[in-house]
Amino acid sequence: MSALSERPANPVVGESIPHESASLHVTGLALYTDDLVGRTKDCLHAYPVQVFQAHATVTRLDPTPALDVPGVVRVLTAEDVPGVNDAGIKHDEPLFPSEVCYFGHPVAWVLADTLEAARLGAAAVVVEADPLPAMINVKEAIAAKSFQGAQPHMERGDVDAGFEEAAHVFSGEFEFAGQEHFYLETNAALAHVDENGQVFVQSSTQHPSETQEIIAHVLGVHSHDVTVQCLRMGGGFGGKEMQPHGYAAIAALGATLTGRPVRLRLNRTQDMTMTGKRHGFHAEWRVGFDRDGRLVALDATLTADGGWSLDLSEPVVSRALCHVDNAYWIPNVRVNGRIAKTNKTSQTAFRGFGGPQGMIVIEDILGRCAPLLRVDPMTLRRRNFYVKGQSTPYGQPVRHPERAVAAWDQVVATGDLNRRLEEVARYNAEHEDTKRAIGVTPVKFGISFNLTAFNQAGALVHVYKDGSVLINHGGTEMGQGLHTKMLQVAATTFGIPLSKVRLAPTRTDKVPNTSATAASSGADLNGGAVKNACEQIKERLLQVAATSLGISPADVRIEDGEAHGVAYTSARISWDELVKTAYFRRVQLFAAGYYRTEGLHWDSQLFQGEPFKYFAYGVAATEVEVDGFTGAYRTRRVDIVHDVGDSLSPLVDIGQIEGGYVQGAGWLTLEDLRWDESDRPSRGRLATQAASTYKLPSFSEMPEVFNVALLQQAHEDGAVYGSKAVGEPPLMLAFSVREALRQAAAAFGPVGISVDLPSPATPEAVYWAVEQARRATEHGHVQEGFPGVVPEQPGADAHPAHPTSEHYEKPVPARA
Ligand code: MTE
Ligand code: MOS
Repeated sequence: MSALSERPANPVVGESIPHESASLHVTGLALYTDDLVGRTKDCLHAYPVQVFQAHATVTRLDPTPALDVPGVVRVLTAEDVPGVNDAGIKHDEPLFPSEVCYFGHPVAWVLADTLEAARLGAAAVVVEADPLPAMINVKEAIAAKSFQGAQPHMERGDVDAGFEEAAHVFSGEFEFAGQEHFYLETNAALAHVDENGQVFVQSSTQHPSETQEIIAHVLGVHSHDVTVQCLRMGGGFGGKEMQPHGYAAIAALGATLTGRPVRLRLNRTQDMTMTGKRHGFHAEWRVGFDRDGRLVALDATLTADGGWSLDLSEPVVSRALCHVDNAYWIPNVRVNGRIAKTNKTSQTAFRGFGGPQGMIVIEDILGRCAPLLRVDPMTLRRRNFYVKGQSTPYGQPVRHPERAVAAWDQVVATGDLNRRLEEVARYNAEHEDTKRAIGVTPVKFGISFNLTAFNQAGALVHVYKDGSVLINHGGTEMGQGLHTKMLQVAATTFGIPLSKVRLAPTRTDKVPNTSATAASSGADLNGGAVKNACEQIKERLLQVAATSLGISPADVRIEDGEAHGVAYTSARISWDELVKTAYFRRVQLFAAGYYRTEGLHWDSQLFQGEPFKYFAYGVAATEVEVDGFTGAYRTRRVDIVHDVGDSLSPLVDIGQIEGGYVQGAGWLTLEDLRWDESDRPSRGRLATQAASTYKLPSFSEMPEVFNVALLQQAHEDGAVYGSKAVGEPPLMLAFSVREALRQAAAAFGPVGISVDLPSPATPEAVYWAVEQARRATEHGHVQEGFPGVVPEQPGADAHPAHPTSEHYEKPVPARA
């Protein structure tokens, strides 16, 4: 056990406690950035001047009519920018663009006394723009070779030789959709400038340091002139890793130019039409299996739909490549990544950060090929699991592969799968119009930022004379429970009750140069830093206690708020007393903590290295029932076993697992982003720009039975108090619902047919999958080689192409 991971006796970490703000959340007392507006005097409101064309050159921008609107104070345009006119770090995102790159792109902002005046002002601004050809979908972009950014290449083994020796080779194509974050709190910023010109911006941001940097470069000032604070976010999910910067910069620019506070909050339509989403991808693949259904080769090209600018598309594609293997050993692999440039919002981080997009490719392949291999999907998946000693295609040894096995076995046992699979078979035999299926899928997800430098964090801990403790760390709270965990870490390290510790909001003037709270590594990184800061102070307090007790510091323990010697008879000193004594002995009672993850290296050119500290594992089994008349479905039961190491906060972790699963199920089954692809003037318009047309998971889609268990005996040596990251990995447990839907649709047809399922598998898509299955002829296609299941295509583009077998041998009987 490492010093980092070892827990003292009676640790506060590991206790099931509610989220630190739970009561504030449910009573409505929790303050979010925009709630501060009511407390801010003379605030101006910012409103965007959006251009409703997908691609165009701005030929005229005349703000003067807006100034005649009562209440309008100023119109911000490119001429107002004293520094760099760019909202990103790649310098491809002009804050005030002269070229409209997506439908609804804002080109100017109006400031007014009221939001309504700002809105009317924005409508009065005259903008003329000459249309340019617009690329809306990823296939058009591929055909036109419209790409941006790096094109990573990952290779291991000898792929061509792998295909030579493969008993079965299939190839296919798959296009799958992105996802709207739909955080409850839309993007918001509130900026002030003080008498010294010091800029203070409150922002709903996952990355305060980068928000600070971008405000500074827009204003042409230094980072020390700008402070960014994030109280909390009403959800981020990756959508606030990059996107908030430009809005914060607009507010800051408005505040510096007018001397008044400026508030910018997007309404839901603006947030949905202006901010980036999860990347949809296009994948082309060729896969080889041996006689027993073991993967021998994979050749794939993944193209992310990046939207109009790079944003985080490059690291998203890297993570997709790093997860194309999921939990499976593939000896020979070649995968290429590309980023399409399209006239859409600039797609960005979203829970899983490309990991889900890589993993869905292999899960889709296994789901489609299992029937063609005549192996049931559970057997096929389980047979291909990594074993000890193997490494990923990018060269990282797979540590703890046995945890995927343990989670799988536990799901099979506690989910009562053997009995339920029989029950499902019986049900399907007896019911013609509804069918059930259970899908079981694993998750292996790499934890750490791919870019090694980001894996560092800081903290600032104060112990006040009265014994109360205030902690600050570089991470942000977006509902995931990071602050709760950090309070528990501090209390554990000091050996004091939780009630003694308070946490102050995240600010760049407390902890500088922070990384985004992202990649699920918030608790690992900031937990390491908080622990380090607390240990420095504790070290000094142990000296003080040792002197008072007349023993060696090594023999002093601080537990439950009391210092004492190891002997039974030792005197006890209360924490408060100890702190007071330390103060009078002039002992420093505050410390800055720092943590860097050890042992990481990554060569992005070679696409090789050990970018991850460890892998998080999980397995889910989902049972669905599909209605053959409508394609409507219900999730009857979900069983999950997930590896969070030794949990820092079990209640929080279970919440993350449940939430992650449901959000993943939303992506894969309900949430359907549609852009206008017609040639009308509305080309490029997001058609699904409200909750009325964009279907989110809600209570009615919750699984009827939802069992979540944390994998036991899962200590992680390399992380704070033996824990593992939990934020993103559970999202990918939702592949089990997609695979269950595929299997249930297949059950409407003859035995052994391969069903293609679009993503999202909406009821409509499932209906067509059912039709596909119904029209397949009994076994015919299997003997003659796939595809034999080509249904009459309802809408030619609605379905991805079918896998084709290039040389299909006699089917292999399934082996348990
Ligand atoms: N949980 C809630 N409630 N709200 C969120 O916005 N974001 C997710 C995940 N869980 C999110 C969440 C994403 S995308 C990440 S990367 C992690 O939380 C970030 O927090 P962590 O690093 O502290 O786990
Ligand atoms: Mo999460 S997508 O890394 O913010």
